[in-house]
Amino acid sequence: MNYRHAYHAGNFADVLKHAVLVWVVRYLQQKAAPLCLVDTHAGMGFYALTDKAATKTGEAKDGIQRLAAAENIPVALVPYLELVRKSNPGSEIEHYPGSPWLMAALARPSDRVIACERHPEDGVALRSQLGLKRAVQIVEGDGYQALAALVPPREKRGLVLVDPPFEETDEFETLAGSFIAAHRKWPTGTYMLWHPVKDLRAVARFHAELVNANIRKLLTVTLDTGRTEPGLSAMGLVLCNAPFTFETEWRPAVAALAKVLAQGPRAGSAIERLTGE
Ligand SMILES: C[S@@+](CC[C@H](N)C(=O)[O-])C[C@H]1O[C@@H](n2cnc3c(N)ncnc32)[C@H](O)[C@@H]1O
Repeated sequence: MNYRHAYHAGNFADVLKHAVLVWVVRYLQQKAAPLCLVDTHAGMGFYALTDKAATKTGEAKDGIQRLAAAENIPVALVPYLELVRKSNPGSEIEHYPGSPWLMAALARPSDRVIACERHPEDGVALRSQLGLKRAVQIVEGDGYQALAALVPPREKRGLVLVDPPFEETDEFETLAGSFIAAHRKWPTGTYMLWHPVKDLRAVARFHAELVNANIRKLLTVTLDTGRTEPGLSAMGLVLCNAPFTFETEWRPAVAALAKVLAQGPRAGSAIERLTGE
């Protein structure tokens, strides 16, 4: 396990993933019934953008720090940006909250957050960041295994984020298999699956596997920064059971975000339906 999210915290991929996460959780919270929020690959939870790892790559400069400096932020992104600002004592964005931190910040007294992390050091960091929060349960171990055991949650409502590091060559297959199995047990949950967009054929195979599993209400969101230098240039999310207003709200938001985060002329975004109702 070489991947450490501290090198990538606050990059363009975090911005879209976390902005969508915050928006979806807040949408689900329009109903009073409790939610279970599961983060299968949680990372450390909170990151200093001034530390050695983050400054080595400087990825946050082309991510959250650009967004924070931009004008006319799309309304769908505002709650996310407010949470990021809240986690920074000053006006500069020097700290960055990861997905389990955002879930914990959003959790109401009746909601539950379960955050899984397999890397021993990052697991310890995650526990020290969030372990004392009332609503949060930390699982130091395999998030895929945990997911199989956790669904359906007793709340019967909620969201699962699966955000693997894609270090393994079969990560797309593992991600698809794990999601399909979880969906069979809990078809009404909302799911967000993150993946890099590097090998377009691998992405197409992944999408085809989900479609062939007969899963309804699947949407894809893609953001391409147009970066031509080495490093990640594009990412995708697969959403299952997204709120019905998602497409209307996010089509302009993700297009505006692609402009803010563009690193080359080929930058762009797309929201597509993989399967219908
Ligand atoms: C992309 S990072 C997660 C970032 C985090 N979700 C966020 O948005 O702030 C992926 C994390 O998954 C962890 N990881 C890798 N394999 C795992 C597994 N099988 N189960 C749980 N965590 C795993 C890595 O150590 C890494 O911290």
